[in-house]
Amino acid sequence: AQAQDTVKIGVLLPMTGQSASTGKQIAAAIALFQAQNGKKAGGKNVEVIIKDDAGVADNTRRLAQELVVNDKVVALAGFGLTPLALATAPIATQSKTPMVVMAAATSSITEASPFITRTSFTLPQAAVGMGEWAPKNGIKKVVSLVADYGPGNDAEKYFTDRIQLNGGQVLEKLRTPLRSPDFAPVLQKVRDAKPDALFVFLPSGQGAQFMKQFGERGLDKAGIRLIGTGDITDDDQLNDMGDVALGVVTTHHYSASHNSPMNKKFVADFQAANKFRPNFMAVGGWDGMRLIYNALNTTKGAGGEALLAAMKGQIFESPRGQVLIDGQTREIVQDIHTRKVEKKDGQLWNVEFDVQKAVKDPGKVK
Ligand code: DHB
Repeated sequence: AQAQDTVKIGVLLPMTGQSASTGKQIAAAIALFQAQNGKKAGGKNVEVIIKDDAGVADNTRRLAQELVVNDKVVALAGFGLTPLALATAPIATQSKTPMVVMAAATSSITEASPFITRTSFTLPQAAVGMGEWAPKNGIKKVVSLVADYGPGNDAEKYFTDRIQLNGGQVLEKLRTPLRSPDFAPVLQKVRDAKPDALFVFLPSGQGAQFMKQFGERGLDKAGIRLIGTGDITDDDQLNDMGDVALGVVTTHHYSASHNSPMNKKFVADFQAANKFRPNFMAVGGWDGMRLIYNALNTTKGAGGEALLAAMKGQIFESPRGQVLIDGQTREIVQDIHTRKVEKKDGQLWNVEFDVQKAVKDPGKVK
């Protein structure tokens, strides 16, 4: 194919390192999307270039710069962690390249560049739902535990503010480092505080290790319930977590068990191609490709401000349900489900039992 017949999408992902599961999930989702929808959009061949940033922000920024300057990509996508998205935002702005955040979820990311859109979620979006559910379900005294960086700050603030507004009491706010966290000392503090429940946000990939230690230290037996955003019962690891995960209630935008024909097909196709279950990162990646393909169809392959404009206001059905890219904030608007881990046919699933429809990012409502 001639160069002018091809548009390139540059995808930055942590394929190695602590967040490698995020890279694995999103890369698999992008491959699935192209297998299902073809490698053409807007009359052009679509070439996806995936670069491994190993979860290191300096790498993401350098690789994004190379993709823009050397490969002339029409869009940047991926972004497995908040610092990686924030480091790349100035490149999107300077080069007028639309940047689709498929994973990272700190509210402020979309404010770092007018060229950023998002197909993942925001922590305020997910955490507020738990601040509503918990106090109505016998949970009055809580301790919160979050990873000590952007999304953790958001989860802690929006959950604790909301539960306090609803008459709940926050006994302690605990944090663990993003890199190589040790949960033993904080779990001892939780035991001593004797809350009704522990609220947790940890990034995708840390849930299984946390859950294991929660069980080993007997917090479940001590009658302390575990609640959180759905990152903690991540579908990538959930099935290996064992019975300690049973009954854990979380709020989130995607469960692999979401009951819709589109999701059933998505999960079946994904599992046939990969031998593992898609998680919320996979859906962010698959929908990000939908967003870019739709926009390229509108612009007939043109990039820059035209492509960005074609992303704003898109409404489409996702495996998670209907989504909208808010034209003002460039932020995803989506349903947030309350879910409980249950065993079905010998497998663990986040079973959705309640929904708040069309939730905007509370972080943008000033
Ligand atoms: C972020 C990363 C995650 O793995 C996650 O589950 C939520 C947020 C982040 O860095 O923004």
